[in-house]
Amino acid sequence: MTKSDIGIVGLGVMGANLALNLSDKGYRVSVYNRTSAVTSEFIETHGQGRTIAVADNLQQLVSQLGSPRVILLMVTAGRAVEAVIEQLQPLLEPGDIVIDGGNSNYQDSNRRWLELAAWGIHFVGMGVSGGEDGARFGPSLMPGGAAAAWPVIRDMFQAIAARVDGVPCCQWLGDGGAGHYVKMIHNGIEYGDMQLIAEVCHLMQHALGLSHDDMADCFAAWNGGRLESYLIEITARILRQRDRDGSPLVERILDMAGNKGTGVWTAHDALANAVPLTLISEAVHARMLSARKSERVAAAALLGSVPTLVAESDRSMYLDALHDALYAAKLVSYTQGFMLMQSAAKTNGWALPFGDIALLWRAGCIIRSRFLTDIKNSFEREPVPPSLLQDPFFAAEVKASEAGWRLAVMLAVKHGVAAPALSSALSFYDGYRCANGSANIIQAQRDFFGAHTYQRTDGDESNHFHTRWLGDGGEEIAS
Ligand code: 6PG
Repeated sequence: MTKSDIGIVGLGVMGANLALNLSDKGYRVSVYNRTSAVTSEFIETHGQGRTIAVADNLQQLVSQLGSPRVILLMVTAGRAVEAVIEQLQPLLEPGDIVIDGGNSNYQDSNRRWLELAAWGIHFVGMGVSGGEDGARFGPSLMPGGAAAAWPVIRDMFQAIAARVDGVPCCQWLGDGGAGHYVKMIHNGIEYGDMQLIAEVCHLMQHALGLSHDDMADCFAAWNGGRLESYLIEITARILRQRDRDGSPLVERILDMAGNKGTGVWTAHDALANAVPLTLISEAVHARMLSARKSERVAAAALLGSVPTLVAESDRSMYLDALHDALYAAKLVSYTQGFMLMQSAAKTNGWALPFGDIALLWRAGCIIRSRFLTDIKNSFEREPVPPSLLQDPFFAAEVKASEAGWRLAVMLAVKHGVAAPALSSALSFYDGYRCANGSANIIQAQRDFFGAHTYQRTDGDESNHFHTRWLGDGGEEIAS
C-alpha cells in the first residue's frame, strides 16, 4: 500500500478541513478520529475521488505513514493533546514529527518539545488560524518547535496556507513553543480588535442613534479604506443579518461573550513579563463583565443606563471621529502586542521574525487586514523603530487621527457608553508620549511610607536616595 504523507488525528471542523485542503494539494492523507462514526461520516461525505486512508486506531495510523512519519494533532488543547501524545510516543521512531495544531498553551508546547526530544521525536507547536474556511482553503499557519522538522514539513504546509502576492502565510517562528506563543498573541489581538469594533457599534447605536443598516453601511465603507480587514467586513454583514421576523439578529443575541482562554493567557503573560498590554487586557475584562448579565441588569435598574443621543446634525462628525478612534486604538493594540512578543523573544531566547509574523497574518487568519502590510514595512526599516508608535509612518497616522480619537472617547464618557478599549488605548498613548510622567509622585510616596528609595532627575541614575520625610527632610544615598 502507498504510504501517506501525513496522518491527521481528530476530524473536528479544523482537522477535517485541513485534511481536505492537504488532499486537494496532492498530499496523501491518513485520518483517525477516536469516535469512528465521525470518520465514517467524513469519508462518506468527502471521500469520493480522494486518496484518504482511514485508520481505526493510532497504531494503524502510524503504520500507514511514510518515513519520517508526520502526524498532525487536531484535538482539543490540554488533556486530549497530552493523552494522544502519550499513546503515540511508544509507536514512533527517532526523526518522526508530531505537530500540535490546536490552540495549546505555549508553555505546554515548550515542555512537549523537550519531552519528545528526549525520544528523538520532533515536536512542532503550530498555531492555525482562519476558522473552517481558512482550514479548507488557506489558513495562516504559525509553526515553531523542533527546527529539524521544518525542512520536512515546510513545502506541505506552505502549499496549503493562504498567500499574499505569492508569499505563503506560513513561516518558521522559532524553537519550543514559539509558534503557539505567536498564535496566542494573534488571539489576544483578535480579542482587542473585536472589542474595539463592538464599542464603536455600541456608540453608533446608543450615542449616535444609527439604525443597523446605517451601521452596516458605515462598516462596509470603512472596509474600503485604512481599516480594511476581515473583522470589519464580517461586522457589516452581521449588522445586516435579519432574524425570522425581519428585525436585526444581533438584537436577539445575548450580550454575554464566551472565551476559550487564549485572551486570558495573553493578558496573564503580559502581567507576568511587565509589559503594558492595556488594550487586550481591557478586552478580556470586558468579556468578563459581559458574562455578569444578571448583575448588570440589576445595576442598570439601580444606577440607570440610558444614554442620550447626539444631535442628528453632528452624526457625520462623530462617525469620522469613531473611524479615527478605531484606527488609532488598533494601532495601540498592535504596538502593545508586538511589545509583548519582543519581550517574550528575549525571555525565551527566540529570534522571532517580526516582519514575517506581520506577513503571515496578512491573509488566512481572523485578524487579517491591510494594516499588517504597514507593520511589515516598519520591521524592514533600518534600524527598526523601538515600537510601532515610533515608526514615522504610524506616528504620522496616529497624530492625524488624534483629534477624532479624543472626540470619540469624549462622546463615550459624556453619553455614558462604556468604551474601555478605545479609552484605555488613548490613556496609553498619552502616557507613552509623555517624557515626564506622574510616577515621580508614586516614587515619593513609596519612599515616604516604606523607604523604597528613588532616583534623581539631576544625578546619576544608578544612585538611589531616601529622604527623611518626617524627620529633618534631609536626603541620604541608599546603600
Ligand atoms: C482563529 C481563532 C480561533 C478561535 C478562537 C476563539 O485564529 O481562527 O482565533 O482560534 O476562533 O480561539 O477564541 P475565543 O473562544 O476565546 O473567543
